[in-house]
Amino acid sequence: MKEKVTAYLSEIQNFSPENNEQFEIFRVKYLSKKGIFSSLYEELKTIPNEQKREYGKLINDLKNIFENKLQEFQKKFNKKEPKPTSIDLTLPGNSIAIGVRHPISKVKNELCEIFLKLGFSISEGPEIEDDWHVFSALNFPFDHPARDMQDTFFFEKTQDILLRTHTSSVQIRAMESLRPPLRIIMPGRVFRNEAISARAHCIFHQIEGLYIDKNVSFADLKQTLLFFAKEMFGEETKIRLRPSFFPFTEPSAEMDVSCKICKGVGCNVCKYTGWLEVLGCGMVDPKVLENCNIDPKEYSGFAFGMGIERTAMLKYSVKDLRLYFENDVRFLNQFI
Ligand code: PHE
Repeated sequence: MKEKVTAYLSEIQNFSPENNEQFEIFRVKYLSKKGIFSSLYEELKTIPNEQKREYGKLINDLKNIFENKLQEFQKKFNKKEPKPTSIDLTLPGNSIAIGVRHPISKVKNELCEIFLKLGFSISEGPEIEDDWHVFSALNFPFDHPARDMQDTFFFEKTQDILLRTHTSSVQIRAMESLRPPLRIIMPGRVFRNEAISARAHCIFHQIEGLYIDKNVSFADLKQTLLFFAKEMFGEETKIRLRPSFFPFTEPSAEMDVSCKICKGVGCNVCKYTGWLEVLGCGMVDPKVLENCNIDPKEYSGFAFGMGIERTAMLKYSVKDLRLYFENDVRFLNQFI
């Protein structure tokens, strides 16, 4: 038995497999049920008791040497060993793309916030309207150009059902259904039959304001608009009112704000005037109050309306209106 063990020892020590197959054959040869170690332990049983210790130790030593050898090559060939991963788990993860508010919504919300501070509340009306709310109740004469097919989208030949061309229609709806005092702002989409260009679009947004109470004066209008301009465009902003005309306000005015970019000195944004046109406004025409069953002898009021895209253009200096409608995320992501 001693000779056998010595022969196995030298085989184990000299063993150097070239591939996994050779390694497996070697492993099975020694460790399987009918392998060398099993037969050596079987043989040990037949050895006289007083020699068992010595022979047992011989086999155990051989087994230790074999196992060390096995480990040495297992590292080299065993495919079950986990492969080093190519993923670096310490790297920061990919962030999830989060949507942003559309710049038009942002400006709309900002405008609403400013007027909410002054005690206005928000009101809305339908986009599909009738002639009464968009034109007749607002004192538009029958032959006014806005009533032309070229300016307004009509649903019917009768020209009674149409897409509202301004949010002033919501003024009428509010005055018909609510009693003064009234202090509301009315944001919404409006539609005009216009060719799309950098400066015009057939769909855009407006925000309308209306204040009806006893003794409301033009001074109240001016002060409200000054507060709005300072909140929206900065504390140093100045306003100026120029006489204008709208069928539903008398007197009517257009409001300009001092150009934020050149501070009134003149630049290409304000076309070297130092002023930027922002909104239309005026005192509600007594005829309009009458149309809504409000007594003009008891009540007076002011109204104003502005384009949200226009305000956004002034705020962000984006000169092409179409960008607001294309929903290109490269554009939208700049307004976080
Ligand atoms: N509705 C007018 C427009 O679309 C704006 C306006 C509103 C003017 C309220 C005066 C008062 O141009």
